[in-house]
Amino acid sequence: MEPVLRKSNRISCLSAFLLFISLTACSGGGADPAAGNITIPVFSTDDQNVTYIGSDRCLTCHETLTPDPVASYFASRHGRPGSVDATADPACLSCHDPIGDGGTLAPWFRDLPLPAGGMAAVGCENCHGAGPLHLAIIPDHPNPVPDFNVCGKCHGTLPASVPEHGTGISANILAAYQQSAHATSLGTIDYPLCARCHSDDVFRQYGAETAGMDGEQLTAFFRDVERLPALSLIQCRTCHNHGGILRASATTGAENGQTVSKYSRQFNLCTACHQVFLTATFNPASSTYSYLLDTSKTPYHGITDLEGRPVQGVAVIWDTHFATADGSIAGYAVNPAAEQACLGCHDPHGTTK
Ligand code: HEC
Ligand code: HEC
Ligand code: HEC
Ligand code: HEC
Ligand code: HEC
Ligand code: HEC
Ligand code: HEC
Ligand code: HEC
Repeated sequence: MEPVLRKSNRISCLSAFLLFISLTACSGGGADPAAGNITIPVFSTDDQNVTYIGSDRCLTCHETLTPDPVASYFASRHGRPGSVDATADPACLSCHDPIGDGGTLAPWFRDLPLPAGGMAAVGCENCHGAGPLHLAIIPDHPNPVPDFNVCGKCHGTLPASVPEHGTGISANILAAYQQSAHATSLGTIDYPLCARCHSDDVFRQYGAETAGMDGEQLTAFFRDVERLPALSLIQCRTCHNHGGILRASATTGAENGQTVSKYSRQFNLCTACHQVFLTATFNPASSTYSYLLDTSKTPYHGITDLEGRPVQGVAVIWDTHFATADGSIAGYAVNPAAEQACLGCHDPHGTTK
């Protein structure tokens, strides 16, 4: 079982009751005179025979209730029209639109040319579970924080007959992840400081707020943070946000009126935990930065010698991947500004050494 964190029960009995009313009202049952004219599409059922309600029904509440995750969902490839349409082979739709509710999202894409056969999409309930169950356990939704097994239903072995499946790093992401150091990390260390980098939950909650802090600052920040009741391993949702995008933002510099990439999204994500601090010097001729290790900030787990330089052989990347100004350490050729700063050498899903 996936340990799940919960916000406090913010819904009163009254609003839970209203929720129930509005859901039943939406279903077109009861005394609504128009009910007879409304065609409710019939979707498939889950393994407990519960019928899915369709993404448009989730959106009736969530578009106003939680606009941020809804916006990122629509920006993601799960929630946009792709090149697979609703008339595709069912074998394809078993991943591209298993519930068959992709078409209910078409009204949100009126400005786009939709596929002739109708839109296919990965609807909300593929990840969050069948909707009607809310009625039984208001305000809980069946699967508020889907784990890597849910993603793995579709991001495992992809049919090799489709050329698009072979591009990028998509080959069996689930298996690569399950064998990685991240999937076997010390997720059960429950000190918030340790869990900031060793768990999914604390990283998602505090990662953005603590970005850029060195070992000392992190230690001070987490001194007063309370332990979370349950923690889970670093996994898909730790690195990918609700829109599938990496959970970090890029850093740019303003040089001679130009915006220049300094640290990419990927670099900032990986080094949020695999800490390293750099000085960046702008080279006007090439319009790029060059980087050296900033030894004035020590990463958590970083050990220094008497001159404040990294002690080599300790398992953090500051003693292996970047060079110091005095040449005492020569690093790998990493370009922190590159979108694929780490991917050139590491598979982010199969991150063993
Ligand atoms: C009748 C309105 C309504 C509908 C329809 C609805 N929800 Fe919700 N949902 C809520 C409310 C209210 C909350 C609680 C918000 C909060 O705690 O901040 C919520 C919370 C959630 C959460 C976060 C749960 C958590 O514990 O953090 C998820 C995920 C979610 N809904 C998904 C869905 C999905 C998927 C559907 C469609 C199958 C759906 N919702 C349909 C009202 C609705
Ligand atoms: C096991 C799940 C699965 C099955 C079955 C599957 N796909 Fe995919 N497909 C995916 C995933 C996941 C991606 C995204 C891969 C990535 O970017 O890493 C994808 C991407 C694609 C893309 C590129 C994205 C786009 O929409 O343009 C096409 C085209 C595609 N699939 C077509 C098909 C066709 C045709 C079939 C049936 C022969 C099929 N797929 C069967 C999971 C699947
Ligand atoms: C590909 C899987 C997937 C799909 C599709 C998906 N979600 Fe989520 N959702 C997640 C995951 C994982 C989380 C928890 C991590 C996070 O917040 O990003 C989440 C979190 C949420 C939350 C709580 C976020 C918050 O900030 O409180 C809401 C609400 C939600 N989803 C609603 C929806 C709705 C509505 C849809 C469809 C329009 C949807 N989700 C589609 C995977 C998905
Ligand atoms: C029901 C099947 C299904 C589930 C469950 C699912 N995905 Fe996907 N995912 C897809 C398909 C299909 C695509 C490609 C869609 C397209 O382009 O048409 C995709 C695309 C993506 C992409 C975009 C890849 C790129 O190249 O831009 C990411 C990232 C992703 N998924 C992550 C996740 C995560 C994380 C989860 C779990 C929280 C998840 N997916 C759950 C089917 C699924
Ligand atoms: C939330 C924090 C976090 C993020 C983000 C993160 N990692 Fe990790 N990573 C860890 C932890 C913790 C371990 C060590 C797990 C263990 O051995 O217990 C690890 C292990 C690794 C290892 C194996 C190291 C070894 O000594 O075997 C590699 C390689 C790696 N990560 C690369 C990456 C890359 C590349 C990224 C960005 C795509 C990344 N990590 C993002 C926390 C993180
Ligand atoms: C700033 C992020 C961060 C913090 C905070 C942090 N760690 Fe780590 N820890 C890592 C990373 C990243 C690795 C993997 C290093 C590598 O292999 O390159 C790691 C590795 C480890 C390892 C070695 C794991 C192995 O399998 O070899 C142990 C043990 C460990 N950490 C314990 C702790 C404890 C205990 C705490 C809290 C007192 C803590 N860490 C706090 C990021 C962190
Ligand atoms: C340690 C962080 C990390 C974890 C954990 C992680 N990813 Fe990724 N993922 C990345 C990075 C980095 C990329 C490269 C694309 C980018 O930079 O946006 C990526 C790319 C992808 C892509 C696009 C692949 C392509 O063909 O380009 C998909 C799909 C995806 N991840 C799904 C998943 C799923 C599913 C899981 C869980 C089983 C997962 N990821 C776990 C960091 C991670
Ligand atoms: C030019 C290739 C290259 C690039 C780019 C690169 N690495 Fe590495 N990395 C390696 C090699 C080779 C090793 C194994 C080194 C060893 O064991 O001495 C390694 C080892 C690691 C380890 C294990 C701990 C250690 O230092 O030995 C981690 C964690 C890691 N890399 C993370 C990252 C992250 C995060 C990025 C992006 C910021 C990155 N790497 C970029 C080549 C690279």
